Amino acid sequence: MIQLIRGFKDILPGEAGLWQHVEGTAARLFATFGYGEIRVPIMEKTELFARSIGEETDIVEKEMYTFADRGGDTLTLRPEATASIVRAYIQHKMYAGDPVHKLYTIGPMFRRERPQKGRYRQFYQIDAEVFGIAGPYIDAQMIHMLHLLFQHLAVTDVHTHLNSLGCPACRPRFREALLAMLDGVTDQLCPDCRRRKDRNPLRVLDCKVPACREAVADAPAIVDYLCADCQAHFATVTRALDQLQVPYTLDKRLVRGLDYYTRTTFELQTGVLGAQSAVAGGGRYDGLVEALGGPATPAIGFAVGFDRLVEILSRQHTMAARPPALYIAALGDAAKEQAFRWAAELLEAGIQVEMEHGDKSLKAQMKRADRLGAGHVLIVGEAELAAGVLVLRDMQTKAQRELPVAGVTAALGALLQSARNSGDDGNIS
Ligand code: HAM
Repeated sequence: MIQLIRGFKDILPGEAGLWQHVEGTAARLFATFGYGEIRVPIMEKTELFARSIGEETDIVEKEMYTFADRGGDTLTLRPEATASIVRAYIQHKMYAGDPVHKLYTIGPMFRRERPQKGRYRQFYQIDAEVFGIAGPYIDAQMIHMLHLLFQHLAVTDVHTHLNSLGCPACRPRFREALLAMLDGVTDQLCPDCRRRKDRNPLRVLDCKVPACREAVADAPAIVDYLCADCQAHFATVTRALDQLQVPYTLDKRLVRGLDYYTRTTFELQTGVLGAQSAVAGGGRYDGLVEALGGPATPAIGFAVGFDRLVEILSRQHTMAARPPALYIAALGDAAKEQAFRWAAELLEAGIQVEMEHGDKSLKAQMKRADRLGAGHVLIVGEAELAAGVLVLRDMQTKAQRELPVAGVTAALGALLQSARNSGDDGNIS
């Protein structure tokens, strides 16, 4: 039997309800905040990711699914959505006229990481980006929106970590201080960090190897090196979050795994997913649009790890499949043909109906209706058809009533619609 690829997974119908619930909640919330959906391809030229995420990052160095296209291009399955959205923003000149755009996308990303709980090679992100706003209130508003997403989903076990990574004006001074410190501990660093240290010392702060973490425990903090502008920006962000009562922890160790960030960066972390604690991450990337060939445009965004969010949610809730409103138990060919037509009529009217397609006894059909959680069962046999009267059984109260064949779908439609309106829908609980 051919199995799926390691690190990839199927989302089966039982679980898909939770995914839909999250998608719907995010789409409604983001629309309120003025975000429009953008859909970008899952594949891009490799260079796009190498130049945006950074050549010296784990993602670009070892995790991308990259291959030579038959036409000679080098292509990559997207490891994240930001680079593609920036490309689209530039390519479609979305900055012309009003440069402010608020966009979101939901879809699969690909990173060839070592698979484990909460870490997949194909995973999903809910990604939001804002272009064209330099001021700090949008940073706070975005973090607020993210906070509300988790609140609307009733996920409580997450906490926001916040840091500022400064800008090209203040980064060099910090870099110098960090390099001086790292030079003293070079022999304690892992081979990757030793190699990367001089070209991209910030990466060392993000390394997960325990020896590296220990070696950089006393590393200088970026926030102590911020220029006046970055300091003022960050102060307003934190003040705005305080006003909105969005809780956060200042985390001077938070550097993120992608190189494009400037100023405000944040991560939502949870204690319930073991080693994979980050459920969302993001920040400003004021230099990226220009670096990729567009006009200088400030930008900020985040991505939620959809799989991880669903994992947290599924510990707290189950998503019940919506049971059919009606099960038509049909006995004999003539009954089956009639049942088929009635079912089609009710389905057209938006009523969830199941019917028997095989040749089962009434007892077996009642059992199946029970298993499916059907609200009512309509019993259609040759005798009932001949008499022109059918039996409708309420599966909850067990009460039975007779329904004349003439006008039966209209009667059922009215009856079942009112049952549906009184709330027997599939629901999160
Ligand atoms: P990221 O921190 O690389 O940021 O990923 C965001 C989230 O995606 C992580 O917090 C995590 O929940 C989830 N994630 C990442 N890798 C995996 C994996 N292998 N398996 C399951 N979940 C995973 C970005 O991707 C940025 N593009 C976010 C952003 C948008 N920054 C600005 N705009």
